[in-house]
Amino acid sequence: MEILMKRFVITTMVVTVSLLVIGCDAKRHTVGGTEYNGWAPNKMNYTSDWASHEQFYVGDWLYWTYDEPRQNRQLFSVFEVNKTDYESCSTDHTLYNISRGGGRDVYQLNYSRPYYFISGGGFCWQGMKLTVFVQELPPAPSEAPSNGSPFSASFPGILTIAGAAALVLLKLGVHPDC
Ligand SMILES: *[C@@H]1O[C@H](CO)[C@@H](O)[C@H](O)[C@H]1NC(C)=O
Ligand SMILES: *[C@@H]1O[C@H](CO)[C@@H](O)[C@H](O)[C@H]1NC(C)=O
Ligand SMILES: *[C@@H]1O[C@H](CO)[C@@H](O)[C@H](O)[C@H]1NC(C)=O
Ligand SMILES: *[C@@H]1O[C@H](CO)[C@@H](O)[C@H](O)[C@H]1NC(C)=O
Repeated sequence: MEILMKRFVITTMVVTVSLLVIGCDAKRHTVGGTEYNGWAPNKMNYTSDWASHEQFYVGDWLYWTYDEPRQNRQLFSVFEVNKTDYESCSTDHTLYNISRGGGRDVYQLNYSRPYYFISGGGFCWQGMKLTVFVQELPPAPSEAPSNGSPFSASFPGILTIAGAAALVLLKLGVHPDC
């Protein structure tokens, strides 16, 4: 009986920890918000109106959508450029061509530094430019202090917390935000 209980607790804890790890994994940020075709001219100041309300961490992704109407896929684009070229809207020496032609582009933010993105085709002048500041990953949440082995020390407590958390997360399909 007790062995079965222990197995149940361990399984639930593993599930909970896995869900927490998945939930804290890299986040995908849809540029301009969740609105469809978020990457468009004269829409917003992407840096002050959108990016300043988001937290970007190393490993996160940016996701640009501009696939409807179809012609937008050719008109707009996404390039990483340096600060000088960002300010002057120049695509003369881009650092990275992010556009793949389908109007849906992704880019992983691998370093803790400022990033500068612009659209080609002159649309940078119409506001299609974005700066993001990427931070190091936040420190992992500290473990609750406990004396001795958690499996023997506070058996019912762990069962309740781990079980409840895992069931709630599984049921709602929710990944907690970091
Ligand atoms: C967007 O906002 C930033 C921060 O306020 C400002 O420096 C920048 O000039 C603005 N960009 C445009 C295209 O208006
Ligand atoms: C950006 O690149 C251009 C061309 O290579 C260079 O002249 C300029 O100094 C660079 N700016 C920065 C901030 O690195
Ligand atoms: C960027 O890459 C896309 C897809 O490979 C390509 O169609 C496009 O011509 C490239 N743009 C530039 C300026 O190289
Ligand atoms: C970011 O890192 C991943 C994993 O190392 C790598 O596959 C990818 O090419 C990198 N992306 C950029 C834009 O450097």
